[in-house]
Amino acid sequence: MTSANSSSRSRYPAGSLAFPHRGLLGLAGLAPHEILFLLDEAEQWVELNRQPTKRVDHLRGLTIINAFYENSTRTLLSFEIAGKRLGADVVNMSVGQSSVKKGETLIDTAMTLNAMRADAIVIRHASSGAVRLIAEKVDCPVLNAGDGQHEHPTQGLLDALTIKRAKGEFVGLKVVICGDILHSRVARSNILALTALGADVRVCAPPALMPADIERMRVTPYHDFDAALKDADVVMMLRLQNERMTGQFIPSPREYRHLYGLSVDRLARAAGDAIVMHPGPMNRGVEIDSNVADLPGRSLITTQVEMGVAMRMACLEVLTRKARKLEGWQ
Ligand code: CP
Repeated sequence: MTSANSSSRSRYPAGSLAFPHRGLLGLAGLAPHEILFLLDEAEQWVELNRQPTKRVDHLRGLTIINAFYENSTRTLLSFEIAGKRLGADVVNMSVGQSSVKKGETLIDTAMTLNAMRADAIVIRHASSGAVRLIAEKVDCPVLNAGDGQHEHPTQGLLDALTIKRAKGEFVGLKVVICGDILHSRVARSNILALTALGADVRVCAPPALMPADIERMRVTPYHDFDAALKDADVVMMLRLQNERMTGQFIPSPREYRHLYGLSVDRLARAAGDAIVMHPGPMNRGVEIDSNVADLPGRSLITTQVEMGVAMRMACLEVLTRKARKLEGWQ
């Protein structure tokens, strides 16, 4: 296994910071080489996670707090596993049993976590911008685990890592992202990562679920899924984000499936070796048929989950280097 320090030192001049950011609030504003740096860093953790013993002590003595104000299976568990595999003490704040329920504000909660001298805080929140607000109030790195409709940066990174390992490179790769683009922080972070890395990104949604100014994100919008799928190398399906919808955005789940669901027949319009992705949670039989979600060799949905642990290990390891006085930090 390559050590975290030697791999980054070999790629960057002595004294430079390969990832000069205090936290990870989003992928907007990251340079392509910074995204590639994080993807490269994750490779060693993919290898470690495939060993019988999956633990190192890089983060020994550090405390990581996960504060999830919204439900999560994959992101919360993978951040917890990632921190523990790196040797940190990981604490999950139980928001439902916390003083948030007694009216404590987000900022007071942040200042409380800060006073406990957390070394990294991972936050999921229903409001776009809430994570940035907390990051401004605390002394340690903050990692955005999904904030409202804004960003889900580690999801964008783990998806990019999955694509890189399956397809080798990004330049010219035809990636279709289909579903509720309007409400999806996953779509936003993926668009930012994949366009930065040179992919040809097509987004597909019913008119009501497509942001009006989406072309500004350097993607091609489609309402016709069959047309979007033509020769695609990667097909990424998103669920309808019902929890963020106010009012009726689609006529019915049945009609949505007819027009925008990924079936085996529809997948045949993509390239013969196209991969299928979904960030989860899936609604089988709505945006994706079960036999596509489970298609051997083509569906990488469980690989995405595996990459999620490695990617979050990379982010935690890189962002705590300053606290550990590594990587050129003064
Ligand atoms: N993809 C994702 O964010 O899943 P969870 O909501 O289960 O964390």
